[in-house]
Amino acid sequence: MDADGVRQQINLATPFVDASTVYGSTQEMNEILRVPYSYLLKTDNNLLPTPPGVNTCFDPVIPNRCPVAGDRRVSESPMLSVQHSVWLREHNRIATELHILNPHWNQETVFQEARKIIIAMLQQITYNDFLPTILGQTTMERFKLFSRDVNEGVFDDSYDPKVNPQILDSVNVAAHRYGHSQLTNNQNFVDEGCNTVTINYLKDTFESPRLVQQNNGANIPFLARHLACSASNKLDNFIADGMRNFLLRLPEAPGSDIVARTYREEGNKEYRDITHGGKYVASNLSNHSTNLESLGMHLRNYTRFKHYLFFSEPDDVDLFIGAMLEKDPGFNVGPTFQCLLGMQYQLIKSGDRFWYERPCEIFSFTEGKCDDFSQ
Ligand code: HEM
Repeated sequence: MDADGVRQQINLATPFVDASTVYGSTQEMNEILRVPYSYLLKTDNNLLPTPPGVNTCFDPVIPNRCPVAGDRRVSESPMLSVQHSVWLREHNRIATELHILNPHWNQETVFQEARKIIIAMLQQITYNDFLPTILGQTTMERFKLFSRDVNEGVFDDSYDPKVNPQILDSVNVAAHRYGHSQLTNNQNFVDEGCNTVTINYLKDTFESPRLVQQNNGANIPFLARHLACSASNKLDNFIADGMRNFLLRLPEAPGSDIVARTYREEGNKEYRDITHGGKYVASNLSNHSTNLESLGMHLRNYTRFKHYLFFSEPDDVDLFIGAMLEKDPGFNVGPTFQCLLGMQYQLIKSGDRFWYERPCEIFSFTEGKCDDFSQ
């Protein structure tokens, strides 16, 4: 319960961009993932590890080989498993190189130094490459999310011990789920020329490590190329059929609906509360619009907003639906999600005592090392 007596969700993952997806959010999980007394993370033939007793896959290619990673959604879709595999391999690659370069370091030092580099890479990519494509340049600058230019020779020390980096409810149950609108129905195999060689459907692959484990991981580059070569769906109010009608249909048809599951969350504020009756969004988009009716002109489809979604009053609109219907002049999420996500990522960064750009700390980098991550 929160201070207002509203039931709230318990977070199982850390809020930081700290590679907990690779190393786990708890000591217990970290021990499951690590090779004991070694700088390496466990693998199963260079694939994600499959310790005995894990049985959460709907459709394993080899029975009893269900993968684990730092986050338990590791097999939610093959593309997600590919990401997990890439970062696992990158840790082991970097740790092995560090071990060769620093034979005097003990195993624990090598492990922690490699982990530090992986976290820094993830923070650098997330804030400087990924977030700008979702939030746009203006929001990035407004919330001071970009890293400082290393060429300026100054490092960004935005740490504030008073900041609570916890994930805001409205972000977890609505804003951060913008990504569900970008998903496509396919998880294809794509060759080096960016040609699709095999079509795989998302609806057939939920919680199934099959495509990733087949042929000892030979499909991983083909799946990774799909991510690199194929455009995602637009950020808007449309959601791929696989997510809307067939979600988690394995092992039983027909499946679930991601949007319906999003409404159902507890303790979420309505669109009206977050946007102050639309005034926030409207004033952000136009100086002349100050109410929900005039906000209509800024929505992708106001008729749909008001009637087709079965809401009799715009005031009843759910936060996810309302915000995904907002237009952005560019290609980013609309103003409400820009604000919520901008705020959240600022809290995550300034609340992180171990943020990779912090200078002069035992856990930070020298200026030389930081240089490398922006390449
Ligand atoms: C094929 C890919 C994906 C699948 C199958 C998937 C599926 C799911 C499912 C089943 C849930 C739980 C819904 C519920 O019962 O409440 C969920 C939650 C969520 N998803 Fe996705 N998702 C995918 C991709 C994404 C992407 C790309 C993003 C964002 C960029 C995203 C963000 C979230 C967030 C923030 C939650 C809430 C997590 C929590 O409550 O801790 N998902 N997703």
